[in-house]
Amino acid sequence: MQIKSAEFLISNTNYKKCPLENKPEYAFIGRSNVGKSSLINMLTSHKDLAKTSSQPGKTQLINHFLINGEWYLVDLPGYGYARSSKTNREKWQKMILDYIKNRNNLVTIFVLVDSRIPPQTIDVEFINFLGEIQIPFVIVFTKTDKNKQQETAQTLSNYKKKLMESWEELPLFFLTSSETKYGKDRVLDYIELLNKDFKGQMNINN
Ligand code: GTP
Ligand code: MG
Repeated sequence: MQIKSAEFLISNTNYKKCPLENKPEYAFIGRSNVGKSSLINMLTSHKDLAKTSSQPGKTQLINHFLINGEWYLVDLPGYGYARSSKTNREKWQKMILDYIKNRNNLVTIFVLVDSRIPPQTIDVEFINFLGEIQIPFVIVFTKTDKNKQQETAQTLSNYKKKLMESWEELPLFFLTSSETKYGKDRVLDYIELLNKDFKGQMNINN
């Protein structure tokens, strides 16, 4: 899919104030600093569309971006940001969970995990939680430019092993680098495919 336009629409703390649920939506989630905002910039070829930082905890709100006038990308705050206060962490957690559970046009969640490190409990717990509440998701391994190919393959294999402990079927995986743009076409083509499904569903329901 070609990205012809990408614009920031609105930031919210409450899912009820997000844009109308009439377009397919894809949210990026993962631990702070994993590269959610960078991936949004890479996919849309906009350097500063989503704000990034080398310090974790940069994104603090639910940020909606309208892509090609047809679908939404959503940048979320990271979970597990240890240096924020407990009250703040709980507030973010509630905001994110309310959004995930209640957003009707959310087609798929992209769960980002760092390709350089072994499966982290917080990530695996979050993935298992999505399964429990039956929200479709895929896993995106970020920052692959920082690894040798073999190291990424090892992380992937560790994840597969870990997830097979609780899943019968593995989710889709994507390997990406916001530095080299690796994985860009694969992710965008997948979204294009899901957008078509969403249109099909809308036609059936109307
Ligand atoms: P929060 O908003 O704090 O939750 O973080 P985030 O997940 O949005 O991460 P962000 O995109 O701000 O990136 C965090 C840091 O990682 C920045 O310094 C980025 O430049 C760097 N980074 C992100 N993606 C990549 C990548 O693919 N390769 C490399 N080498 N660095 C990356
Ligand atoms: Mg961010």
